[in-house]
Amino acid sequence: MRVVLINGSPHKNGNTALALQTVADALQERGIETETIQVGNRMIRGCMACGACSKTGRCAFEKDDFHALCEKVYTADGLIIGSPVYYAGVAGTMKAFLDKLFYASAGRMRHKVGAAVAVLRRSGGMSTFDELNHYFLISEMVVAPSSYWNIIHGAKPGEAAQDAEGLDTLRVLAANMAWLLQMKEQTAKTLPPPPAMDRARTNFIR
Ligand SMILES: Cc1cc2nc3c(=O)[nH]c(=O)nc-3n(C[C@H](O)[C@H](O)[C@H](O)COP(=O)(O)O)c2cc1C
Repeated sequence: MRVVLINGSPHKNGNTALALQTVADALQERGIETETIQVGNRMIRGCMACGACSKTGRCAFEKDDFHALCEKVYTADGLIIGSPVYYAGVAGTMKAFLDKLFYASAGRMRHKVGAAVAVLRRSGGMSTFDELNHYFLISEMVVAPSSYWNIIHGAKPGEAAQDAEGLDTLRVLAANMAWLLQMKEQTAKTLPPPPAMDRARTNFIR
């Protein structure tokens, strides 16, 4: 089983990297393969709402390397998205990446196990954690829990190593995520997931 971890920070070795490595180490200890991808240092423009991805499954404005990243996520069993908090929200490049990844996904995220991690100096963790979870919950993903919300504190790169409770929260998250992934694998034949259902789309006015 394979989990992809997305680092939404521009810093390769910042606090988000440290937080994601903590989860990755704990997943690997439980036999889960991991791959961490940094997107926060890339040039990714915001979604242009052209709708092309609904026909092709790919963003018309992005190149092959972007689509290769998306493919890694679409073929993984689990996904962790980690973002530094910028103005009490998801960092801009990460938001551009997630909007495109999920908008073009056409059901490919369904029933994957996911978890979000917010990384910050002081305040805005809950709003960012909430924002990140929106991607999972509208995609019928299974969200892995922990013993606290997955938020870890640090300002300068590396400071998050001092947030003992934040680190433990991430280790509990990894243990629960590994368990969910193993449960899914072991019950794949005996308890298949429900099929996708059609839904009304009313836009509130019609
Ligand atoms: C543009 C910008 C906005 C930020 N806004 C917040 C904020 O609203 N709340 C907060 O606690 N920290 C804020 N920070 C601090 C970062 O979230 C913090 O330094 C974090 O550890 C960075 O993670 P990284 O090392 O992975 O890049 C901001 C940093 C930047 C560059």
